[in-house]
Amino acid sequence: MSDAPPRVLGIESSCDETSAAIVSGRCDDTRLESLVILSQDIHRIFGGVVPEIASRAHLTAIAPVVREAVAEADCLLSDVDAIAVTNAPGLVGALLVGVAFAKSLGASLGIPVLGVHHLEGHLFATALEHPAAVPPFTALLVSGGHTMLLDVAAWGEYRLLGATRDDAAGEAFDKVAKLLGLPYPGGRHVEALARQVDGSRIRFSRPMLHGGQQLGDAAYFDMSFSGLKTAVLHAVRDAESRHALDEERAHLARGFQDALVETLATKTARAALAFGRERIVLGGGVASNTALVAAVGERARHLAGAHVEVHAPSPRLASDNAAMIARAGLFRLERGERSGPSLNAFATQPLPGLVAAPSANA
Ligand code: KG4
Ligand code: ZN
Repeated sequence: MSDAPPRVLGIESSCDETSAAIVSGRCDDTRLESLVILSQDIHRIFGGVVPEIASRAHLTAIAPVVREAVAEADCLLSDVDAIAVTNAPGLVGALLVGVAFAKSLGASLGIPVLGVHHLEGHLFATALEHPAAVPPFTALLVSGGHTMLLDVAAWGEYRLLGATRDDAAGEAFDKVAKLLGLPYPGGRHVEALARQVDGSRIRFSRPMLHGGQQLGDAAYFDMSFSGLKTAVLHAVRDAESRHALDEERAHLARGFQDALVETLATKTARAALAFGRERIVLGGGVASNTALVAAVGERARHLAGAHVEVHAPSPRLASDNAAMIARAGLFRLERGERSGPSLNAFATQPLPGLVAAPSANA
C-alpha cells in the first residue's frame, strides 16, 4: 500500500454552482490540489434560482467540470481514493445530478463514495486556507439558505446555539438588493453600495438584539431578519414617494448592512464568550462580507477578549464550492465512514453530529 495521503474528489451541485475539487492529506494537514467552479449565470435573468434549469445545467456541466478538476490537480481519475458529494440540503433535482454522477464514478473506479452535508462543508472551508481555523471554535454559518450559530468542540461535534427564525442572512441581502434595484445575487452589490458612504443617515433597529437578553433565553443567540427587510421596504417606498431613492440608495444599503452585521457580530461574540472559545470561524457566502468579518472581530475582542481570532474564507471558498465538500469528506473517510449504493439526495437534513441543548460556562 502506498504511503501517499488519501486524495478525495469533491463534487458540489446543491444550488447553482457546478463544482469539483481535489483535496489530499491527513487530519488537519490537507492540501487543496484543484478547484473548478462553474456558476450558472442564467438565473440572473429570473432574479433567483430556477430549480429545473439548475438541474439541467448541472447535467451538462458535471462531467467536464470533474475532468477539469482532475487535470488541474495533475493526476488521473485512477489516483483518486474516494469521492465526496453533497447530498443534502439543497435543490433535490440539482443534488441528484451530483449524487448519481458520484455513485456511478465510484462504482466504475471501485472506490468509496461519501455523502456530505453542505453546511458541514461550509464549516471546513476556512481550514483549507487558514490552518488555525480548526476546532474548538465558535462558528457562524451565513449563506443564502441558512444562518446558524454553532459551538464546534471538535470536527463532527456541533452544538447548535441559535439560528434565524425566518430569512437567512444571505436571503435578506438578496431581497434588499432587489428592493434597491441591484442584480441577483445581491449580497456583494449591497456591500459595494454600502461602502460608498461613511455612515448611514438611516438607522434601522438591530433585529432580535437588546441588552436585556440573558444566556438561557432562546433570543440570546437566535436571529430574525424578515422584520429588518420589511423596514427597508418601507424606507425604500418612502424615499420613492419623495423622489429621493437615487440619493438615498447607498444610505439604505449601509443602514441595512449595519443593522444586520451588528446583530450577527454581537450574537457570535456572545457565543465565543459563553463557551470560552478563542477562535471564531465564519462560513457561507455572506462570510465574504468584509464589514461582517471586521465587526465580528471588533465585537468578539470587546466582549470575549483581545486574544480572540476571527477566520473567514476568501470569497471563492466562502460561496458554494467542492473544495469544502472534499475536505469534509476526507474527515468522514478517515473516520471509516462510507455511504452505500442507496445514497440519496435530500432537500433538508439535520447537520450530522448536531447537539441541540446548549451548556455554556457562563
Ligand atoms: O453559501 P452560498 O454561496 O450559497 C448558499 O449555500 O446559499 O451563499 C450565497 C449567499 C447569497 O445570498 C449572496 O447574496 C450572499 O451569499 N453573499 C453576500 C456577499 N457575497 C455573497 N452577502 C453579503 N455580502 C457579500 N459580500
Ligand atoms: Zn452554501
